[in-house]
Amino acid sequence: MSENRTLPNAKKVFIKTYGCQMNVYDSDRMTDALAPHGYEPTQEMGEADLVLLNTCHIREKAAEKVYSELGRIRDFRDERGPDAKKMLIGVAGCVAQAEGEEIMARAPAVDLVFGPQSYHRLPELVARAGTERVVDTEFPEEDKFAHLPAPRREVTISRGLTAFLTVQEGCDKFCSFCVVPYTRGTEVSRPVAQVLAEARALAEGGVKEVTLLGQNVNAYHGRDDAGRPVSLGALCHRLAEIEGIERIRYTTSHPRDMDDELIAAHRDLDKLMPYLHLPVQSGSDAILKAMNRKHTAAHYLELIEKIRAARPDMALSGDFIVGFPGETDADFEATLDMVKAVGYASAFSFKYSTRPGTPGATMDNQIEEHVKAERLEALQVEITVHQQAFNAGCVGLVLPVLIEKPGRNPGQVAGRSPYLQPVHIAADPGLIGQILPVEIVGRAKNSLEGTIVTAERRAV
Ligand code: 5AD
Ligand code: SF4
Repeated sequence: MSENRTLPNAKKVFIKTYGCQMNVYDSDRMTDALAPHGYEPTQEMGEADLVLLNTCHIREKAAEKVYSELGRIRDFRDERGPDAKKMLIGVAGCVAQAEGEEIMARAPAVDLVFGPQSYHRLPELVARAGTERVVDTEFPEEDKFAHLPAPRREVTISRGLTAFLTVQEGCDKFCSFCVVPYTRGTEVSRPVAQVLAEARALAEGGVKEVTLLGQNVNAYHGRDDAGRPVSLGALCHRLAEIEGIERIRYTTSHPRDMDDELIAAHRDLDKLMPYLHLPVQSGSDAILKAMNRKHTAAHYLELIEKIRAARPDMALSGDFIVGFPGETDADFEATLDMVKAVGYASAFSFKYSTRPGTPGATMDNQIEEHVKAERLEALQVEITVHQQAFNAGCVGLVLPVLIEKPGRNPGQVAGRSPYLQPVHIAADPGLIGQILPVEIVGRAKNSLEGTIVTAERRAV
């Protein structure tokens, strides 16, 4: 029997994923790494031989969740009694990277702690964890991706029509609020050939839409076969040539890396979707400076203008932090002004959370919690106004929708517009997998409603 077929006595792994899309991608790759060693994924923690928490360290709340979940899993394991088969508990991801030994001390039930750069060593680490407690938070020399096995074609098919593909990891920007440069390390781009091979395998497994991932994805500069660096814009051109890949997206970008080649790709490539997540964090120059963002509000707005000149119907998304140390009422007003000026199609907003080891954590002008809460509420009201206006502007248009899955009700399917909005359509589930022109006839809070037609029109 070949090693990567399901064995009758296959072990089960249960992975719980927190945080960003990169963790979602990583959890799949951990599953792929364990598959040749007889581990099958399960959605039931109760039947698992190995439980992995793939964790997020970006804000305090995210990190604290891990410890409460570990307590719950320990109780669950203890309730199985001494005769129950042994269940190994592992912590992966960014909390593991940042707090390796501390997790071991705070949570004695944990058998294994390993950071994002060790996923290719997972089978070996799990084997060792059977006899000793293991911590691996090294940044190894070798290329993790070159050692991670690809999923079997059937596995890719089972994962659906859209897929994530990590092309870049880590960050060298050191924004003063952010732990990413410490947890994910310095910026590394995967070689072009590796990315293209993975994208081709995804296309062969029926994937229609790839979202390229990276903490700083538009800083991508992977090498081609001749050793020359290739920009994200050029990479998108190469990916667009792959038969079967119909849609390309990427996230998350930094304004300073939004180069002309990438902007031009939005003008020239129909497959590159007109949706851009381009976090600005604040509209105030003083706060942007304190955050070490290395650009001003005016630079950002000029950039948006340039992007819209290349692709007029571009839907913009962003991230905002309220209550960064020193933020005055006037600084916060500038953030509201930024939201109004850009007219985001969607945006995420967060209260500033002090992260150990970052410069922001030791700044002495921290903002009181109730002020952060008030500002967050006001910001979210403003963002919602613009999101609703963007969605309202889509009603009456005919948009190409990738029909992804059955809808909530029988006779309904669900898909995504080019602008990433969920679209609910009364249609035959046999249409799943196709990109079809859909007339938008209505909208709910966070989604659109449509009917299939025969010709399409853009938002602008
Ligand atoms: N506090 C609050 N929000 C943060 N983010 C990153 N670090 C922090 C922090 N310390 C937000 C930023 C980033 C998004 C992924 O998370 O807005 O773009
Ligand atoms: Fe964090 Fe993004 Fe700034 Fe890098 S660019 S430090 S990942 S917020």
